[in-house]
Amino acid sequence: TNDATPVSLASHFLDIETGHEEHAAAAGARADALDEAKRGKLLRWSRITKDVEVKKATSGLLRGSIASPSPESRSSFVKRGVPSVKKTILNEVSGCAEPGSVMALMGPSGSGKTSILDVLSGRSSYDGGTITLDGEIVTDRVMKKMKKKIAYVKQSDLFFGNLTVRDQLMYTAFLRLPSSWTKPRKLAEVDRIIKQLCLDKCADTPIFMVSGGEKKRVNIGSELLTDPSIVLLDEPTSGLDSTSAVALMRILECLAKRAGKTIITSIHQPSSAVFFGFDKLMLLADGNVVYFGTPAGSLKHARSLGMACPDGYNAADHWMDLLVVDSAAEEEDDDDMMDDTFRDDGDGGGGRDSWNDNEAPGAIRRMKKRALGAAAQDLGVSNKQKLISAWDGEAVALKIDDEFALTRRASSVMVSDDGGEGLMSGAGGGISLEKSFNSTWWTQFIVLVHRSMKNSRSAIFTKLNLIKSGAMGVMCGLIWFQMPYTEATVFDRSSYYFFTMTFWVFDAMYTAFLAFPLERSIIFKERSSGAYHLSAYFMAKTVSEAPTRIALPLIYMCTSFWLGAVNNSFGIFLGSTLCSLLSVLAGESIGLFMGAAVLDMEKGMVVMTVTALTLMVVGGFYVRTIPNWVQWLGYLSPFKYSYNSSVQLVFDRPVPCDGSGLLSVCEGADTGTASVADVLSFLGVEGSPGFNVGLLLVIFIFMRMFAFLALKGKKAGEREM
Ligand SMILES: Nc1ncnc2c1ncn2[C@@H]1O[C@H](COP(=O)(O)OP(=O)(O)OP(=O)(O)O)[C@@H](O)[C@H]1O
Ligand SMILES: [Mg+2]
Repeated sequence: TNDATPVSLASHFLDIETGHEEHAAAAGARADALDEAKRGKLLRWSRITKDVEVKKATSGLLRGSIASPSPESRSSFVKRGVPSVKKTILNEVSGCAEPGSVMALMGPSGSGKTSILDVLSGRSSYDGGTITLDGEIVTDRVMKKMKKKIAYVKQSDLFFGNLTVRDQLMYTAFLRLPSSWTKPRKLAEVDRIIKQLCLDKCADTPIFMVSGGEKKRVNIGSELLTDPSIVLLDEPTSGLDSTSAVALMRILECLAKRAGKTIITSIHQPSSAVFFGFDKLMLLADGNVVYFGTPAGSLKHARSLGMACPDGYNAADHWMDLLVVDSAAEEEDDDDMMDDTFRDDGDGGGGRDSWNDNEAPGAIRRMKKRALGAAAQDLGVSNKQKLISAWDGEAVALKIDDEFALTRRASSVMVSDDGGEGLMSGAGGGISLEKSFNSTWWTQFIVLVHRSMKNSRSAIFTKLNLIKSGAMGVMCGLIWFQMPYTEATVFDRSSYYFFTMTFWVFDAMYTAFLAFPLERSIIFKERSSGAYHLSAYFMAKTVSEAPTRIALPLIYMCTSFWLGAVNNSFGIFLGSTLCSLLSVLAGESIGLFMGAAVLDMEKGMVVMTVTALTLMVVGGFYVRTIPNWVQWLGYLSPFKYSYNSSVQLVFDRPVPCDGSGLLSVCEGADTGTASVADVLSFLGVEGSPGFNVGLLLVIFIFMRMFAFLALKGKKAGEREM
């Protein structure tokens, strides 16, 4: 069944797309490959170019920001004379990946592997070139539609650590599999992935406990769940031992061969077996293609340039040596001294016994330079391009364009600048995700509530937290123990409320503040693969955390209120407790807003502390005579409103004088009473309870809305998606 299921799943996805497949096949582009595996997609890209604007250190502070979004703004850069360097991170990269095959991207660190994968997955903009998918030009509209079918396994594995492997896969399944599927079908799919990726052993282990390789497989599994046509992987084997790496590559090969997926993976240092196992290989250096073709062909190519791989030397390492040295030399601006240094190092280290003199990297480079130098100099190209121009990228691009022209359907969109432009408009924050969801808003909401509860239950509802609330309640109850209802305890009663408020509102503010900064990368990642609406996530977060947020203060209130005999009426207990809980929620809203607006733990903590303490101090308990020009701050303080309303509820009848001289109306006598109004004016309480509760509600709702807007406004950096 292992083999049969993916086939049936894939055909489900391809129902709509069969037209393209037949067309491609009819054109005879890759007839054999398509026959064998109909489920993948033919991805071609030609002349993909991407530049970034890197501002010089001396330029203006605000302007020269990275990666200007459009050519217009780029030219305005120049016009305003801000010195910025244009850095080409992808230069006319052309290639294609066929269904049923594994293509590998190789190149030294910083050569543009992640960049090209980002572009191909639609997560990053590009400045020129065309991407086509089964004979259709990929515009941002097409990309939106396709995102569900392109899986992108990022370099880093980001998960909620408290979920088990099975949980993680299950929630992903519920979020991203079509809502028309039944629950058992989705669960069966999860089981299939677990089996396929050999995760049985750790299926019920929390993710923070599993090994790096297992985590990587969970990452891959989460993406494979949706049965994508194209799978892009960014260095899936880094951090794995060579045996695991080979095993992982086998799985990918198997996916390509049996399920007919199109697989593109970047890889560092593959072993020889893995290297020759790839169907296609693209070698990159400083954003330029150095080779594209079969792995065996790459060695032929090297040999034809006089850089043959010595016998017994790992072919991948050989290429890496060539490319790394080449790009290093470019930086050194042709310093011949460097050549010698490199060669001496190689010989002296003894690590390269198999090099003969002719093939030492320095010598190779000089030879290559000599061969290419003359022609390149005529064209006025830089040194880097001299070395790279040995690869005829144009021929590949033309071939790909030709193939595409053959398969292009009459109805398809014409090539226009729009192709790049459209995508670029989404550069700042990812392409809009609307209409590309598999599940309904409601399903997303339910699943996310469930996931959030499961993940945070262990974090918030711990035994320790329950003990903390209970212990605090008992302690405070004993300290404010059985207060008599007289003049002497007026101040204690009000301080009981202010303390309660301060403690729990602070608690809520700080924990809520941490929520978004901690989850931001996961949200960005999941959102960029079109898993759910931001609003569904936000509502789920709010709803799932409210019970825990309220439960803890409730335990405290129940204990301390009665022990302290704050008031003997159950109605008053209920009313003042509700006020306190509302203020806790309002505080949570403020915390969420701060977290969403700042999204940086350290800076946020500073802002948070200053804000929270300010709001507390202006809350009316500590300072009575606040200068006029800061008085307005008090109106933002949830402490103030909840203090005002609770205290009014508690002083529900005139307070008997007891000779303590606290209230001036009692004039030191121990007979008579102070009216409620006198007490309240002594405490500086203003506004009716209803008014105060209303304003608490306003803070609660608006701050939460602001938090949502702030979160929505925060766009992931290009590299965070
Ligand atoms: N937005 C950007 N602004 C400036 N430079 C960028 C930007 N994006 C990528 N780069 C640069 O482009 C180059 C290619 O980066 P990329 O991440 O694609 O390399 P890589 O081949 O994936 O490297 P590694 O193997 O280390 O992951 C790097 O030099 C990187 O610093
Ligand atoms: Mg990378």
